[in-house]
Formats: sequence, C-alpha cells, structure tokens
Amino acid sequence: MINPLRNDVVLDLGTEKTRIALRGRGILMEEPSAVAFRPGGQAIAAGEEAVTMAGKNPAGVQLVRPIRGGAVSDAAAAGEMVRLMMRKVRSGWPRFWRMALIPAPDCLSEVERRAAEQAAKLAGASEVWLEDAGWAAALGCGLPLDEPQGSMVVDIGAGTTTASVYSMQGRVACQSRVMGADSWDQAIISYIRKEHHVVVNEETAREIKSLLADVYEPRYEDTYPVRGRDLSSGLPVTLDIGATEICQALEGCMDTLFETITAALAQTPPELAADVLQKGLTLCGGGSLLKGLPQRIEQALRIPASRAQQPCQAVALGGEMLLNQGLAYLQKRSGVQPGRRIYHA
Ligand SMILES: Nc1ncnc2c1ncn2[C@@H]1O[C@H](COP(=O)(O)OP(=O)(O)OP(=O)(O)O)[C@@H](O)[C@H]1O
Ligand SMILES: [Mg+2]
Repeated sequence: MINPLRNDVVLDLGTEKTRIALRGRGILMEEPSAVAFRPGGQAIAAGEEAVTMAGKNPAGVQLVRPIRGGAVSDAAAAGEMVRLMMRKVRSGWPRFWRMALIPAPDCLSEVERRAAEQAAKLAGASEVWLEDAGWAAALGCGLPLDEPQGSMVVDIGAGTTTASVYSMQGRVACQSRVMGADSWDQAIISYIRKEHHVVVNEETAREIKSLLADVYEPRYEDTYPVRGRDLSSGLPVTLDIGATEICQALEGCMDTLFETITAALAQTPPELAADVLQKGLTLCGGGSLLKGLPQRIEQALRIPASRAQQPCQAVALGGEMLLNQGLAYLQKRSGVQPGRRIYHA
C-alpha cells in the first residue's frame, strides 16, 4: 500500500536530463540536469527554470550541470538540484520521502556510485538503492525478463551507452561505455571544421543531428542551412550541409556503437545470443531517436532492432516498476540481506 506521507522515488540522474518518478504515480519530472546558484552560493532554481535564468542573467547566476558522463560529478550541486526538483514534484503531496532508487549504469566507478548516493541523501532521501540501469531500461521497454530466453536492451543516453542481455531475471552480459549521443555532436563539429573549415557550436551540431542526420538512407537532396564562423577569415558564414555528409561524419560513432553491442553479444552464452539474433534488440535513450538507427544496426550486424515505445523514459518507468515490487523484492533479487544497502546491482 502506498503511504501518502512517506513515498519512494526513482531518480534517473541523466547527463542531459533528470527524470523523477514517484511510486504509483509515474514520471512527474523530466527536465535538464542543471541547477542555478546565486553568487553567494545559494541554489535558486533547477531544471528548465535554471537554464532559462542563466540565459537571461549570465553574470548574476552560476549554472552548474552536476552530471557528467552519466555520473554525479558534483554531489553537493546534484543534491541541491534534486532537492529543488523534489520540492516542485511533491508540492501538495507527500511531505517526506524515504527511499530513492537510482538506476546506475554499469560504467560508474565505486566513487561515482557513492557520489550519487550522497546527492540523494543531501536532497533528503533517508535510504538509497542503486540498481542496474540496464535492468530498469529492459523493464521499461517491456522485455520478457522472466522467460528463459535472451533479451537485449541498448540504452544510448547523452553521456553513456549500455548494451545488456537478460534472461530469467538475471543479467548474462553487459557492456557499458562513457560515451553517448553527445559525442555524435562532437563528430559533426569536427567533420564540418575539417571539410568546410567552418566552426559551428554544439547547439547547431545538435540541431543537425536531430533534424538532418539519417544513418541508414540519407538523401542527397536533403540539406540544412548551418551558421558558423569561417576558420580563415573569422567571419560568420552560412553553408548548406548535406545529409550524406553527416552520415559520413557519424561513421566512426556508429562503429563504436556496433562494437559495444557485439562485445555484449560475445559475452552472452551462445543459446541466449541466438535468441537475441532471432528476436532482435530493443533501443532506448535519446540517442535511439537518431533517424535510421534501427535499420542501420540491422544492416551492419544482422540483428533486427526496434525502438522502445517511450525510449527516453524507459529507465525511469522501469525504475518505478521496481519500486512497485518493493524493497524486499530488490533485496531478494540482488541477494542482499534485508537491512543492508548495496551500491552494485
Ligand atoms: N532525434 C534525435 N536524434 C539523435 N539524438 C537525439 C535525438 N533526440 C535527442 N537526442 C540525443 O539524446 C541524448 C539525450 O538522451 P537521454 O535523455 O536518454 O540522455 P540522459 O539519460 O540524460 O543521459 P545518460 O543516460 O547518458 O546519462 C542527447 O545527446 C540528445 O542530443
Ligand atoms: Mg539516461
């Protein structure tokens, strides 16, 4: 039963976005992982509001993005961010929160896991449970995890990529890298600089990635007007970038992604790997929205690939499903005695 005064939450602390789900109520917050401080050091806003504030008054507000490469890099700032977000989420509802479930990608170090725990505690959680983010993602994607067959989920976030295989409620393989869809922006910036001698900013690169890029069948006639600065003259220029060029710019990034997926498959026992090859893999995370990505994976690796229904929310949704099962279930699944916390999944 849900106690209205003591509620458990999922904190999906992502490099780009933080998603907060409340037990029994779904995702109530999905905003940039950012917090704004006054010059004196007082946190005044979090999420979208913080970004807007810093944009309007860059001199008077210090904007901190406390999550880098999927890890809490500044526990105090992350704690303030979550505290302010929680205040918004629970206005008029539960006054206290007890447990924070944090889906943690496998690539996090022990120190980074402790920083995530510390941030949640600073924000007011009395108990913190770190869970395998791949497991949460697989649940959120609706994969049949109870069945004796291999199921693969690939979460491509802003700063991390994790490919994991599960069977009968257990993890059989996992490859996690501190490299995500933000690195694609960098590849686009480098390409334009090298081929056109023009410097574009990250925002432009991100626009190109979301609006023009197609990694399967880019059309020659698809172009996008890009504003940048000419390297030799230093003057602003506008040039038309083609979709075929961007496909070429992302080649190396695609190879890295394929390598992560094949490494996870190589770790998987052959009979379960055969299930994945036959059933296909499920993509989630914002990077999975890249146009043509499922088809490109299928073409390159001969593995059918599809996107989850709610790719960006899958981890938080799966985390909430885990919360609904209760702490006893989490402890049983991880083999940890009741009363003992764990940092690992
Ligand atoms: N249409 C799109 N095509 C390609 N990439 C996209 C698209 N939409 C969003 N992205 C990228 O997805 C990434 C954000 O994904 P997501 O919200 O899953 O990250 P996150 O959970 O904050 O990060 P992480 O889990 O790695 O810490 C960003 O790099 C963003 O630019
Ligand atoms: Mg994520």
